[in-house]
Amino acid sequence: MKLDFPLFPDSASTFAPQLDGIYFFALAVSTFFSLLIAAAVLYLAVRYRRSEPNAVGKREKAGLWLEISWSVIPLAIMLFMFVWGARVFFDARRPPADAVEYYVTAKQWMWKFQHPEGQREINTLHVPVGQPIVLTMTSEDVIHSFFVPAFRAKMDVLPGRYTRYWFEATKVGTYHLFCAEYCGTEHSLMGGRIVVMEERDYEAWLGGAGSATPRIATGAELFAAKSCTTCHRPDSNLQAPYLEGAFGREAELADGSRVLVDENYLRESILDPTAKVVKGYQPLMPTYQGQLSEEELLQLILYIKSLDGGGPAGGAPTSEAAS
Ligand code: CUA
Repeated sequence: MKLDFPLFPDSASTFAPQLDGIYFFALAVSTFFSLLIAAAVLYLAVRYRRSEPNAVGKREKAGLWLEISWSVIPLAIMLFMFVWGARVFFDARRPPADAVEYYVTAKQWMWKFQHPEGQREINTLHVPVGQPIVLTMTSEDVIHSFFVPAFRAKMDVLPGRYTRYWFEATKVGTYHLFCAEYCGTEHSLMGGRIVVMEERDYEAWLGGAGSATPRIATGAELFAAKSCTTCHRPDSNLQAPYLEGAFGREAELADGSRVLVDENYLRESILDPTAKVVKGYQPLMPTYQGQLSEEELLQLILYIKSLDGGGPAGGAPTSEAAS
């Protein structure tokens, strides 16, 4: 949909025309019925006005067809809008399988990004056009909200939890990023930009951004440096659960309940290891609270995620974050 109306944001993601379609349809339905009702009020007020000083109204019997049609037609319109909206909503919440994962860490008052290849940026994120991108986001302090109007999508960024947001940019350009949750004095300045580039320009930009250690390698180093290998290894006498292939599956806990091993569960288990202990193991693991930055936590989780016996890591689809 091409819109040159200056109050309307650019339309630069696959999701934007879908959301605009719903928006304009809802607007058209509301406008049509508002005008219809206003016209009916005016017409009936004149048509049935009091014609002599002591006129008394008489009861009109409405036909059954009229009762049925004014119930069924709005119901059908509402259900149509509900089904349409739900489909777009589910699409918006489920990153496609080939989405590439970027990290976003928010803090008062800046946005920190990390590319899959390890490059970091602050307040500016360069991405290739036509590539589905999923952002795994967390906050170092309070609640922020990641909002790019040109992509028509917004997601809260929460401390102590991961949320995900995906988009596929359809147009090369620079788009404004806003923080859409009041987060303190400089909330209004907590903006940034998303630079959408052609694939080859993006590759060139990455090359020029300096060499970086891929996140997964940093995660592997941390895994060794924090001595995770001492216990989480197949030959460690079963002191700790074996992590290969654990991600994305359910684990049974000591109390018999089951939990999905996803980013949020791994995060909790690293920071508060006794919270949900896997059945058959002792709560021996020490906490790593305060020893890892948010970025290091994400890298460690990415590394654990990659321990699936040889699959590619980083772009793999994972469960949706609870939010
Ligand atoms: Cu961050 Cu408002």
